[in-house]
Amino acid sequence: MNLECHYTRPEKIKKYKKQAEFIDCPKRFTIVEATTKAGKTVGCLVWLLEEALHGKDGDVCWWVAPTFTIAKIAFRRMKRYIQPLGLYEENKSELVLTLINGVSIFFKGADNPDSLFGEDVIAAVLDESTRMKEDAWVAVFTTLSATEGRCKIIGNVKGTGNWAYRLARDTESGNKADWAYFKITAADAVKAGLMKQRVVDEAEKTLQRGVFLELYYGIPFENSSDKFCYSFDEKKHVKSCVWKSDEITYLSFDFNVNPVTCMIIQDYGNIIRVPEVIQLENSNIYRLCDAIKIKYPNAYFLVTGDASGKNKSTLNPDNMNNFDVIKSILGLSKGQMQYAASNPKLDENQILVNAVLEHHPVEIDPDKSQRLINDCKFVEMRADKTIKKGDRDDPNQQADALDCFRYFLNRYYRNFMKYITKNE
Ligand SMILES: Nc1ncnc2c1ncn2[C@@H]1O[C@H](COP(=O)(O)OP(=O)(O)OP(=O)(O)O)[C@@H](O)[C@H]1O
Ligand SMILES: [Mg+2]
Repeated sequence: MNLECHYTRPEKIKKYKKQAEFIDCPKRFTIVEATTKAGKTVGCLVWLLEEALHGKDGDVCWWVAPTFTIAKIAFRRMKRYIQPLGLYEENKSELVLTLINGVSIFFKGADNPDSLFGEDVIAAVLDESTRMKEDAWVAVFTTLSATEGRCKIIGNVKGTGNWAYRLARDTESGNKADWAYFKITAADAVKAGLMKQRVVDEAEKTLQRGVFLELYYGIPFENSSDKFCYSFDEKKHVKSCVWKSDEITYLSFDFNVNPVTCMIIQDYGNIIRVPEVIQLENSNIYRLCDAIKIKYPNAYFLVTGDASGKNKSTLNPDNMNNFDVIKSILGLSKGQMQYAASNPKLDENQILVNAVLEHHPVEIDPDKSQRLINDCKFVEMRADKTIKKGDRDDPNQQADALDCFRYFLNRYYRNFMKYITKNE
């Protein structure tokens, strides 16, 4: 059967010059550092599809995302993009689209490096490259060598200690013959109508300066790679707090077996105050609640904390869940139990915690909330977006107090971030 297929690039892709520039760049390797929502992903989906359409039966194209789950989003976006439906067959579990010309587009996660070897790969995209380990890049590069395949590496700037940053600097300085470098800032995205100036202004007011410049202007923020609370400033955030019985007392719980932790928070006069972090070693939620009752008589409590506290616990009599125990011992109403359905994502939470520390008054008591101060100073974030708790004997790495603090912010301060939400 002789099939003929006519492809036209969508008008809106042609119109956005900064995007068309990197899509159409003839160099074998292209590296793009761009602001969030600059059209990187869409641009490269278009490019990879076009490469696939030019391929021959048996050729392979790769879309590589930091994880298989993120690759799935690109897989679905690509499918939405290809019209009419009959142009491809799909394998949903393996995330493969096979076009009628016999070229297959595989969507892969860099979290499984074993999957990054193959044959006949003619074109590849590495999306969100700064969130991938260098191994993934080496694997893709090696795979492309035999075919002299082409590759586009796209992402936000994320500190300077990563392979994508090094490659970008090398390329930018003109040292690499087969390579081209592109940068797209928020100003470009606003000009092209992809982003509203209002959103950029709001982000500038909300985010820590370094993070804002990195995310929207691609200027690296050296601090962003390790310290979780990079906006914490002892001079600004450490201040004696006096608990007031006539203001709401928020309790934010972390239910680690040892130590169980409750953070006391008050939020009035436009200041978030952390008068105390109560931690009991080798104890349980019952004793913790008893301690709270004695220390904070006549308080009006609102309770939040680790969402897993709503799971039944075999440690409690009658298998009661931890939040039920708290409710019962402290004699609270249903409305006072304000925990979230699930725990927040760590990396989104990191931005929220720092945005609040940077732009909203926060006071942490130097004597009774020392645990939170320590966490703010020392807890680190790994490149894979998990908190480095490491040695649980080292108080600097337990992060229980920080966990309580972020559960509170996630429950009551989510709106702080309303202009900086990520759509897919
Ligand atoms: N050429 C274009 N014209 C109009 N809208 C576009 C164009 N390219 C992309 N968009 C839209 O802009 C938004 C952002 O695009 P995209 O997801 O590709 O950006 P990104 O740089 O990959 O963002 P992220 O930082 O989330 O990874 C999407 O809603 C997308 O549909
Ligand atoms: Mg993207």
